[in-house]
Amino acid sequence: MKKFWFTAVAALAVLAFVGTADAGGDAAAGAKKAKSCAGCHGKKGEGKKKNPPLAGMDEAKFVKAMQDYKSGAKKHKMMQKFSKKLSDADFANLAAHYKGLK
Ligand code: HEC
Repeated sequence: MKKFWFTAVAALAVLAFVGTADAGGDAAAGAKKAKSCAGCHGKKGEGKKKNPPLAGMDEAKFVKAMQDYKSGAKKHKMMQKFSKKLSDADFANLAAHYKGLK
């Protein structure tokens, strides 16, 4: 029985790794979270008026921007409010999602 669990856990770990190998984040999970961002940044991250586009944005830059809003290093009322509700894993997932949009 022990061996079964070891195999199951190892298989899941491999799946998780393969699924995120190139992106670092999970784009499908990011897409769900992105629903609350679409009102400002657009359904496809195309940007609207004063809200910058996010589509195709470099993932590292995206995550850094979100962390900076969360920490307060970067100031913007709405973005600080939104980033505070999200974790680093959410940032990575959102980054992967937006990176894949055009
Ligand atoms: C109420 C409108 C609004 C909502 C909702 C919103 N944003 Fe923003 N976002 C902005 C504005 C405006 C800026 C530009 C702020 C600035 O000048 O720093 C911005 C900036 C950003 C940036 C930095 C872009 C860059 O080029 O540096 C990222 C990344 C970002 N938003 C992601 C998100 C994500 C992810 C969500 C959803 C969880 C979200 N935003 C929700 C208005 C919004």
